[in-house]
Amino acid sequence: MMKRRQFLKSGALLLTAPLLPGCGDSSGPGRSGSSGGNLDDTGMDFPLVLPLPFAHGVASGDPLADRVILWTRITESTPSASQIPVDWEVSATPDFVSVLKSGTQLTEASRDWTVKVDVTSLSPATTYYYRFHAFGQTSIVGRTRTAPATMVEEVRFAVLACSSYWSSYWSGLGHLADRNDLDLVLHCGDYIYDFVDEDEEVRARKDIKDTAYVDYRDWLNLDEVRRRYALFRSDPNLLRAHQQHPWMIVWDNHDLSTGYGNELASDIDPATSTCTLDDTTRAFYEWTPTRPVKADGSGEFILVNDGSYPAPPDAKLIYRKLPYGPMVDFFGIDTQSNLPGYGLPVDASHLADGAPSLFGRQQFEWFTGHMVASQQNGVRWRVVNNQTWLAPVDIPDVVDGIPTPKLGISRWTDYAQERTLLCQTLRGDNAQSLRVRNNVFVSGDAHGNLGSDLIEDTALLSSYVSGLPVPNPRQGSTTINVPAGYLRATTAALGPISTRADSVGVEFAPSSMGRGGADELVTNALSLEPGNPLGVVGARAIELALITANKNVQFVEWVDHGYGIVSLTDERAIFEYWWQDKLTPESPDVLGNQMVSWAEENTSALPARFPDQIDSVIAHGMTVSATQGNRSAEPAPLDTALLNPR
Ligand SMILES: [Fe+2]
Repeated sequence: MMKRRQFLKSGALLLTAPLLPGCGDSSGPGRSGSSGGNLDDTGMDFPLVLPLPFAHGVASGDPLADRVILWTRITESTPSASQIPVDWEVSATPDFVSVLKSGTQLTEASRDWTVKVDVTSLSPATTYYYRFHAFGQTSIVGRTRTAPATMVEEVRFAVLACSSYWSSYWSGLGHLADRNDLDLVLHCGDYIYDFVDEDEEVRARKDIKDTAYVDYRDWLNLDEVRRRYALFRSDPNLLRAHQQHPWMIVWDNHDLSTGYGNELASDIDPATSTCTLDDTTRAFYEWTPTRPVKADGSGEFILVNDGSYPAPPDAKLIYRKLPYGPMVDFFGIDTQSNLPGYGLPVDASHLADGAPSLFGRQQFEWFTGHMVASQQNGVRWRVVNNQTWLAPVDIPDVVDGIPTPKLGISRWTDYAQERTLLCQTLRGDNAQSLRVRNNVFVSGDAHGNLGSDLIEDTALLSSYVSGLPVPNPRQGSTTINVPAGYLRATTAALGPISTRADSVGVEFAPSSMGRGGADELVTNALSLEPGNPLGVVGARAIELALITANKNVQFVEWVDHGYGIVSLTDERAIFEYWWQDKLTPESPDVLGNQMVSWAEENTSALPARFPDQIDSVIAHGMTVSATQGNRSAEPAPLDTALLNPR
């Protein structure tokens, strides 16, 4: 597997690269704390801002209309017992004057001392507060929210991906935590990272700075994967973002990495790695508030009603669906674990002539079947939590007969037949002959900001004209970010209307929570010093080339980083790109751009509105202006240790 620098120097750019894998040692998490069970030095030498035993805070996730998964972890230096009872409570108010639900769960080493409770019999579309007790200590209070069961005025959620602890101060996660109008946070994968990118040592254990050190190099075994989660989950902004919102998380390559071979100089012998896919998927389920699915590939949840730990029978399965009433179905998919490197058997018999599959037949049929059923059931929107850019965003390898360097940004470049079949199925080639409308793919992986119509391949380009590229009128978060990306300010109404009718949905990718973009790639490729403005200049040239060559792309920006906000109503979806400077703690939140997609065709509007197309709000006569949710839930109490970390 080629290392990234070598790959860049070979003349190709491939952001999603095959990933450079994993590694081992076995220290258990922790730091001296002021309270808890065994409070000696825990051997975790990174700062834990919250006291033991609840040093890794709380989290919640995968809400349904009547239940939600609650999470915490008991952190001690050495276990004080083979099993530790942890009490949990749920209340309608943050002061817990009235406790609605409560119980006790035993935790133990086999699940890395994590606690997961599937709290049942809750009311739909309702905000709840929760906390845990153990050793006479109480965790911070978490806030969560159940899914709606009936139509609501708005469903509002955040989107993020590629959250490398080492690459950013994660100001965006703090801003996300401060929002009181969100229903859910979607993480599109690369929730943790197997190794430090040598170009992104913003806070890469600078105190250690040793490429053989456990928190710097690839993980080598299950204990080290768990320790990596413990490191990431020691960050106060991430702790707050989990504290205040329920999350739905899918994994990507860095979460699953099993091998060894990062680009750091290291004396570690790769043969010492014992890390397997079972280890990384197991740790994912332990440390994320993810609801387990059945082992039969049906995507159906295992619903736990007795307060016991919801253990996945096969942790390698995560594809699932969260229904949010008539407004939206949230799908979580897995287009990573079927890649050849993991060695899983892949049934690609739904494709012709042995073409490779990212979904695998079972997941493909589950996904398309439930997408069609969702449309049939009258659900307004389908949102897909997706690892890697699905729409084509490439520079063709031959332009006017002249060979050019291939710019393959997504792994879908090599799986075009399955993408075509997916688009055809959504366009109506299915058992019900039903066109599935209003599909929103939210995507991670490429570390760039993208807004695109969703088409299957570049063969559609000749008839696909949606306007000319224009500079983004907004200034980005840094002074050299003018323009910040490129967008089209025209809509189909200014060209042949039918030219965009092939789109089967829209794709919204709000960059990465820190991991480097095209400016870093250019900086490396040209061997520039970090921060050389030519890196951004080169990135802008790539953006312009991409929006010119890919008419389905309506906005692309590949320098800024942050998260996205999506507001869904019966009428429209608004997509907001929120940016922060990743090199600066407590960096302000900047609304970088805003896009819109309409739910229904309206040709009497000026300009005309069509579903499954994404446009700049400016193209529809609107101004770029942050949306506000229609409710404001009282935040869970803010812990000063998280607001003012040492
Ligand atoms: Fe990534």
